[in-house]
Amino acid sequence: VSQELQSRLLGRIRDVPDHPKPGVTFKDITPLLADPAAFGALTDTLAELCLRHGATKVVGLEARGFILAAPAAVRAGLGFVPVRKAGKLPGATLGQAYDLEYGSAEIEIHAEDLDPGDRVMVIDDVLATGGTAEASLSLIRRAGAGVAGVAVLMELSFLDGRQRLERSLSGAPLEVL
Ligand code: PRP
Repeated sequence: VSQELQSRLLGRIRDVPDHPKPGVTFKDITPLLADPAAFGALTDTLAELCLRHGATKVVGLEARGFILAAPAAVRAGLGFVPVRKAGKLPGATLGQAYDLEYGSAEIEIHAEDLDPGDRVMVIDDVLATGGTAEASLSLIRRAGAGVAGVAVLMELSFLDGRQRLERSLSGAPLEVL
């Protein structure tokens, strides 16, 4: 991604102090979404990354990952598959629990939406601890598909998500715009 595009996109992300709790700075992507030129450029970039890395499907991580991944999938001519928080998907699911700072969470996928030959690009807004992305890679592999990579708009590098993800990526790229 060009420096110009990167600063245009990152300039549309709003830091919200003390949300959702004191001491946490929330990265709000809604100003970017409301700017059609920025959102369009981001969509084109994500679609291009999917194709460059040979993806055949695009997974978006609930909820903000859906907003970025779905238009990118359509633009790239690829199918979109949602990874949802546990209990939301109606069909036969695979589930993966993962640790949070306090407690744990679980995400699910409809395994039948992935084919054994698929190579999946995972898209989300933010890589923080990497727990969600790591669990999604495990779901994709357990569904019998391969991983084309992970693409996120931003990385909170002080949380070391990249290190946590490294092993599960097993050579696949982590793209941070
Ligand atoms: C945020 C963000 C990522 C995840 C990153 O989602 O959109 O999906 O957390 O955190 P991690 O790297 O530590 O796993 P959130 O759980 O807030 O869900 P939402 O998009 O539904 O609000």
